[in-house]
Amino acid sequence: MKIAFAKPDLPKGGAIAVPVLEGRKLGPTAAALDRRTKGALTRALGASRFQGKLEETLAVLAPRGLSVSRVVLIGFGKPEALDTLAAQRIGGALAAHLASSGETAAALALDGFAKAAAPEPAIAANIALGASLRGYRFDKYRTTEKRDQRPSLTSLTLLVEAPGEARKAFAPLASTAQSVAATRDLVSEPANVVTPQAFAAAAKGLGDLGVKVEVLGLRKLRELGLNLMIGVGQGSEHEPQLVVFRWNGSGKASAPVAFVGKGLTFDTGGISIKPAAGMEEMKTDMAGAATVLGVLRALAARKARVNAVGVCALAENMPSGTAQRPGDVVKSMSGQTVEVIDTDAEGRLVLSDALWYTHDRFKPRAMVDLATLTGSIMVALGHEYAGLFANDDKLAEQLLGAGTATGERLWRMPLNESYDERIKSDIADMKNDGGRWGDSINAAVMLKRFVGTTRWAHLDIAGVAWTTEDRPIAPKGATGFGVRLLDRFVADNCEEPE
Ligand code: BES
Ligand code: MN
Ligand code: ZN
Repeated sequence: MKIAFAKPDLPKGGAIAVPVLEGRKLGPTAAALDRRTKGALTRALGASRFQGKLEETLAVLAPRGLSVSRVVLIGFGKPEALDTLAAQRIGGALAAHLASSGETAAALALDGFAKAAAPEPAIAANIALGASLRGYRFDKYRTTEKRDQRPSLTSLTLLVEAPGEARKAFAPLASTAQSVAATRDLVSEPANVVTPQAFAAAAKGLGDLGVKVEVLGLRKLRELGLNLMIGVGQGSEHEPQLVVFRWNGSGKASAPVAFVGKGLTFDTGGISIKPAAGMEEMKTDMAGAATVLGVLRALAARKARVNAVGVCALAENMPSGTAQRPGDVVKSMSGQTVEVIDTDAEGRLVLSDALWYTHDRFKPRAMVDLATLTGSIMVALGHEYAGLFANDDKLAEQLLGAGTATGERLWRMPLNESYDERIKSDIADMKNDGGRWGDSINAAVMLKRFVGTTRWAHLDIAGVAWTTEDRPIAPKGATGFGVRLLDRFVADNCEEPE
């Protein structure tokens, strides 16, 4: 979708959207249009339940007296609550409303919220961000879809008093939206396309932005002893790959902040195989890795003044004659041994090696991993929050703050010694399964043993990386959760001042 900013001026055709505040308060443009149509808008309001609450929409088609084909009343809610997150939701609601309307062009006249909780350029830029995030569509495999079945809207113009300022505010957000889309694209791709090798090939694309990309194949992983990761991938025809991104945006040789992602390009469960129903969703089990790619892309695109490392642990978990068995004991890169009770608890295996590798090689100032790790976190938090586990309170606070600021919300979960008992093994240093209860915590307790002295946080994104229903700023499918969150976390806590 093409997004533009212009001075207020009624468009000749297409759709014009106008804000209405809660309590059916028309903004100045809406009121002017109402007069020009001899009351068509107030009559439409009277015939509907539209109240002007945030994200509500009401279309008035082809009103006499105007050359536009429709007027869309859009609820802006209460002006004092109109902050940047609310603005994003408005943009999302408008994009969704117009997607199947048949309109190709629309303009939104921003007025009537003089006392908004953020300045107009920021509101405009965030409406545009919401519209572009909600307008995302993964349609490369639709070959027979007719034109009139596709979303029609191709351009959205925001009419504002200071278009230059709004445009300037939107530029970095548009860039972030592209990084979110890169993550969503990878997560949406099926597992016959995105194999560990294909992911690594896509990762090399970040080289164009100045990111150093290194790919460690099976030989190198053996040499380094990442045997937990190798064990998970050994049943697959596609060898595991460890992708290492480095963005050196700081002037100094300071310790980097590191992001580590679970990258199971498909998770059948292995020999502890999953039930057939819904298994196709396990193509998304590389969302953590795809988010790491998106974050590194975002940092490089805006030339963030920070040294950052991204590590993606890529493997495919398949049952076969060469697959790992329940009961196998594997020696990790860190030297600790793990009894593999359940081959479907593979995420904590690959991550343990990837975390130790990152800690050991980069001595990062902080390390954050992202993983679609457990069904248990979905049972606990549903699809509204990702689970946050941390061995450092300050790091946890910083991440929680970035979550509140971006709307990619986190909920802190416990992580203490009382859970250690759960993963005791009879024959090895630990086992990869602590039973049904509190499994997202059992998994985190295992990860914690592989971060050494590094300040670390773990985000269990199993409930938020994929949505089966449309969300305010994400259509159903891959959400790209975590890209905006961690970009913000870096901006607020890790970057050097200019
Ligand atoms: N990738 C899954 C977790 C998952 C489930 C992510 C649903 C997204 C949606 C993970 O590898 C897994 O299989 N976890 C098991 C662990 C269990 C066997 C200890 C689970 O949560 O059931
Ligand atoms: Mn699994
Ligand atoms: Zn998995």
